[in-house]
Amino acid sequence: MTLHPVRPRDWSSHPAFVDARDHGYKSSILRGPTKPLIPIKHSLSELTGPVYGHDSVGELDWDLTKNGRNDGEPVGERIVVTGRVLDEDGRPQPDTLIEVWQANAAGRYIHEMDQHDAPIDPNFFGGGRCVTDSEGNYRFYSVKPGAYPWGNHFNAWRPNHIHFSLFGPAFATRLVTQMYFPGDPLLPLDPIYMGIPEAARERLIADFSIETTEPGFALGYNFDIVLRGLSEIPMEV
Ligand SMILES: [Fe+2]
Repeated sequence: MTLHPVRPRDWSSHPAFVDARDHGYKSSILRGPTKPLIPIKHSLSELTGPVYGHDSVGELDWDLTKNGRNDGEPVGERIVVTGRVLDEDGRPQPDTLIEVWQANAAGRYIHEMDQHDAPIDPNFFGGGRCVTDSEGNYRFYSVKPGAYPWGNHFNAWRPNHIHFSLFGPAFATRLVTQMYFPGDPLLPLDPIYMGIPEAARERLIADFSIETTEPGFALGYNFDIVLRGLSEIPMEV
């Protein structure tokens, strides 16, 4: 059995649990803790496995352009998103389960809570998963998610983004975050993105890469993720 001691969370990289700014992330006020947190020691079960879900990763799960097809291809700008999962010391994290979910190209999720008046794509499910290889690499095909309106404040729109969940070598390394796209004019208006401490924000923006771009097929984006430590990718509130 391997123990994986983890460092304390770096709050200079992460958003506060409660975003009390004017025009901040409204839901965090009800969702976040209202009393000071009580530190407890990590238990054995948090520092070791089990990390679940690996066995059920299917062959097409990493390809969101295929895993939701009914009678054709999903609509939208095809993308390939790839990167490495590393720990705070730059060591690759193999066998990390990565799950992604996103809106379709029109900015609509398949979810009963999503009532945005934009079309559902009958050939796009919007969820996928994969496991990192021995060097910590991962890769997804998808379509670029559309921006969508939400109820945080008047005329609020979420920037294009993909949600990520990672299960590293232990439960205590779990990370939930979002990936954004370079040059998005909605970023400086987005309370979730702007809730990340300024010095850490840009780590959430993927790099466009012409080398990763697949000729005639998909635009390429690189997005490396660090679990815990000083250069950790910020989690969402
Ligand atoms: Fe979203």
